[in-house]
Amino acid sequence: MTAGYPSVGRDMTCNEGNAMFEALTTAMAHSTAPMVLSDPRIADCPMVAVNKAFGDLTGYRSQELVGQNCRLLQGPKTDLTVRARIRSCLETGEGCIEWIVNYRRDGSVFYNLLFISPVCGLDGKLLYFFGNQLDITRGMPDWFVDVSFGRAHVVPRLEQEFHGVLREVVLATRVEALERIIAAAHRLAEISTSLAPGALDQLRVKSLQR
Ligand SMILES: Cc1cc2nc3c(=O)[nH]c(=O)nc-3n(C[C@H](O)[C@H](O)[C@H](O)COP(=O)(O)O)c2cc1C
Repeated sequence: MTAGYPSVGRDMTCNEGNAMFEALTTAMAHSTAPMVLSDPRIADCPMVAVNKAFGDLTGYRSQELVGQNCRLLQGPKTDLTVRARIRSCLETGEGCIEWIVNYRRDGSVFYNLLFISPVCGLDGKLLYFFGNQLDITRGMPDWFVDVSFGRAHVVPRLEQEFHGVLREVVLATRVEALERIIAAAHRLAEISTSLAPGALDQLRVKSLQR
């Protein structure tokens, strides 16, 4: 494990004791896919937890990320239209799928296939946004090219499955079943890596042309 990521880097002050937060960060700590949790109840929706894979992808230490908005990854080549679309989805509490130009801490560019999903409490109130990033700099799966980016209903099956797993994580907090949370975390990672070009070597991978 890299220094700064004993399990998952997170803000210990604002959410400690919150069962949902505990469950999600436990899941994130067990995932090899980059994941981040942001809190829309705090001004400017800062990251409250990031996992090791997110640090590895971006080159930042967890302490540099927690408390900041994810837009710190954006830079001169980031498409402002995409950024505005993400903002508009989040403002209405919806998730989205976009690909966006991002920058690592060292200034190098990567293409980020970004999947954001709202996480609601059992009463339906929005608690967090969960983000999952995939480095698609070398290309994206052929089948994904036909998807119109934007609000998350564009990939209903994936969205449904993702929410199903998140819900399992949430419900698991009620029965305090750590094993279930970990199993759900592995499934989350599976869903996201099934999108990754590396996991799709058998499929034709098309270069990004945007
Ligand atoms: C959970 C979550 C993860 C996000 N991850 C990224 C990311 O990896 N890269 C990025 O450019 N923006 C990311 N964003 C989007 C930005 O944080 C921000 O919402 C976007 O830039 C639009 O808002 P703004 O116009 O106020 O910057 C993420 C947002 C959320 C809620």
